[in-house]
Order: sequence, then structure tokens, then C-alpha cells
Amino acid sequence: MSHSQPKPTAAHRSGPLSGRVTVPGDKSISHRALMLGALAAGTTRITGLLEAEDVLNTAKSVAALGAIVERHADGTYEVRGRGVGGLSQPAGPLDFGNSGTGCRLMMGVVAGHDMTVEMVGDASLSRRPMRRVLTPLRQMGVGVLEDRETLPMTIRGTSSLVPIEYATPVPSAQVKSAILLAGLAASGETTVVEREPTRDHTERMFRYFGADVRTAARDGKHAITVVGDAELEGRPVTVPADPSSAAFLAAAAAIVPGSDVTIDGVLVNETRTGFYTTLREMGADVELMGLREENGEPIADIRVRHRPLKGIVVPGERAPSMIDEYPVLSAVAAFANGETRMEGLAELKVKESDRLAATAAGLLANGIATRIEGDTLIVDGRGAARGGGTVVTHMDHRIAMAFLILGLGSDRPVTVDDITFVATSFPAFTGLMTGLGAKLEAV
Ligand code: S3P
Repeated sequence: MSHSQPKPTAAHRSGPLSGRVTVPGDKSISHRALMLGALAAGTTRITGLLEAEDVLNTAKSVAALGAIVERHADGTYEVRGRGVGGLSQPAGPLDFGNSGTGCRLMMGVVAGHDMTVEMVGDASLSRRPMRRVLTPLRQMGVGVLEDRETLPMTIRGTSSLVPIEYATPVPSAQVKSAILLAGLAASGETTVVEREPTRDHTERMFRYFGADVRTAARDGKHAITVVGDAELEGRPVTVPADPSSAAFLAAAAAIVPGSDVTIDGVLVNETRTGFYTTLREMGADVELMGLREENGEPIADIRVRHRPLKGIVVPGERAPSMIDEYPVLSAVAAFANGETRMEGLAELKVKESDRLAATAAGLLANGIATRIEGDTLIVDGRGAARGGGTVVTHMDHRIAMAFLILGLGSDRPVTVDDITFVATSFPAFTGLMTGLGAKLEAV
């Protein structure tokens, strides 16, 4: 898809939002299902795969590496894998578009194969740090043709990877997952030690596909070990609804008085639900209903009803479990009474944009008193927002969606300069929001 034509869009103050909806599949699980399907022997049938640009780029990449990927008329995907170590040299560069997850996890997939692969991405992805993944992969034996921090780059995998033990210096599920994916092909045990637990979908899906994965507490940290020379068996995967996409609807319900919105079948793995905990602490009525489990992941229906909100302190330890939700939480914080302090946000600076700066700038443009102190974002909530500003989205889908949500409760409309990047994660966003009663219009 070309992003050459920006699509500015405005969000207007809206009446109560109500309805029961389903949001598309989880992005993290969708990427992993395609990659594990490619590394498994046999067939993996995926129901509810997120059909958004980021994930479709991963589907193209695993196909370029020799897996067979087919979409059936009912929207399910079938991946016929090649086994761990069985992928083949792609004919050209792998293009991950806007997706850090696709790119970084695929580095771990490529690592265990004797092949040389060029990786490219769009302007946003080409600014994001890659050494965090390449440093441990190099310790395992992967070669990098030029020592660079950013894409484009060419990496050389090897069928004789060395297992390592690695303490991640940043809380990142992408770094952890890349190492564990490489570890599947190493001969021996590969261990990642995390200070703060990050989303654990890779570990859960490894187990589900038959790999030997162990987790243990170690000196107050969290150690995850995968046994190498692994054999994975293709399995059916049903992708639950994405809690990070659902967060926009939940936030809208929390902001707009009188709202009552239910989102069905949402992933509620506790490494992902920090936003909902936070919303509840701020005073919103958040109910998790019908808790159940599907292929190793917990899901529930989430009902959010508007209540008056208050400012709170969101502790830094919670950041990994809601790292993608800070832009929209900041919009909610504007409608709370009192200050909301969001601590420990260093990782926000290296997302699809510098989200710490982009969020603060967007709030200020709409008359909301905001400041950054180190890695803390502080929003001075007044129970209302002036709006009327235009927000620069910096090729970042979540900045675009977060500020459209802000506009639903603001006195004057909030305009975002471009919503095209919403298609990277949540193409149905505009339709679902207007279906609930949100007033969005192209400008
Ligand atoms: C993801 C991990 C997070 C998150 C991203 C998806 C994943 O990134 O921001 O949207 O699927 O592993 P980091 O690992 O860089 O924190």
C-alpha cells in the first residue's frame, strides 16, 4: 500500500457510545502464529488472523522463506511449515513495512538458517533501533554485513547457532522473542532473563506447538529457557481479539458520558491488561465477563461504562503490560480530574514514532496541560478538553487513533493529519467507532 496521500480526519464531540462489538485479532499473536506455522512441520490453520498491513507483511515474508501460506474464502489462513531449520533463501529483500515486531522476530527466525537475508522497512521502521536484537543474535553466531543500528540491513544466519544466556537490558518482548525463536534451532538450552515480565505469547505458543519451554524465578527476575533442536508440530490457532485495539473503544467509553460498550472475546493475558487495570483505578466501570481459555491464552468480554474519572499515578513496573496504550491513556487522563503521572516510559521513545514526544505535543495542541519529566509523562486533567488542534501523527497508527478518541469528548474537534497508518494494525477502526456512535469525518 502506498502512503503518499495523507488522509486528515477530525473527531467531533459525540453522544453516548453504546454497543457490543468484536475487534480484530491480536497483532502480536498473529505475527507469532504465522512464524511458528512456518517453523512447524505440518499444517497450522489460523482463525481470526489480523488482516492488517503489519501482519500481511509477515505473511509475505514467511512465504518468501518457503512456507506455503493460503487464505481460504472463510478468512482462515493455512500455513504449511518447513520445520525448524527448514526455511530457504528468499529471492529478494524481506519488507516489513511499518512493523517492528515482524522485523525483529523474523531476525530470530532467519538466525538458525544458512542464508543471507536483506531486511527493509518504511521510513518509520528504518529509524528504529535494531542492535537490541542483533547483539544477542550475534552472540549466537548470526552475522550482520554492516554494523548498523537501523534498517536496511543484511543478516547472515547459520545452521550451527550457539545457545546463550542473555539478560535483556530493555523490557522488550520483541528482543526476548527473537532470542527464543533463534533458540529453537540452537543446539542446547537458550535462556532469556527479564527484569520485568513482558508479553509471553511466544512462550505460550512454543509450548502449544510442542517445544520444551521452562520459566523460573531467578534472583527476583524472570528466566525463560527453550530447549534447542526443537521440533514443532503445526496446530490450529484461534487468534483472540487484540486488547491494544480494544483499548481505543474502551477509552472512548470511559471518556464520553453515558457510554456503555462491550468488546467480545478480548485477550486478557495479564502481560497485556495494564491499561484496563489503570482505567479501573481511574474510576471507570470495567468488567471482565465470561473468562475462558483458547489455545493457551485467556480471553473475556470486556464491558466499559462511563463514570467520573480521577487522576492517578501509573507505576513504571506496569509499563510493559500496557506499553502500546499510553497515547490513548493520555487522552483519557485529560478527562480525569487531577494529575495523572505515567512513569517509566523510556521505551515509548522508540516505537513507531517517539510516542512520548508525539503524545505530549498532541495534548498541548489541544489545550491540555502536559509535561515530560525524564521518562514520566504528566497530564493535568480538568475533566474536559478544549480540542481544536491538529495532531502530527508521524506515521504512527496509535497516535492517530488515540487523538481521534480525544476528540470524541473535546469541546472542539480534534484533527489528526493522517489516518492511513491505522491500516497497519486496525483497518476496521473508523467503521467500528462510527458504529458505536462516534463522529469522525474526513477533512
Ligand atoms: C510486541 C512487543 C512490544 C509492543 C509491540 C508488540 C510484540 O514491543 O510495543 O507493539 O508483539 O512482541 P517491544 O518488545 O519493543 O516493547
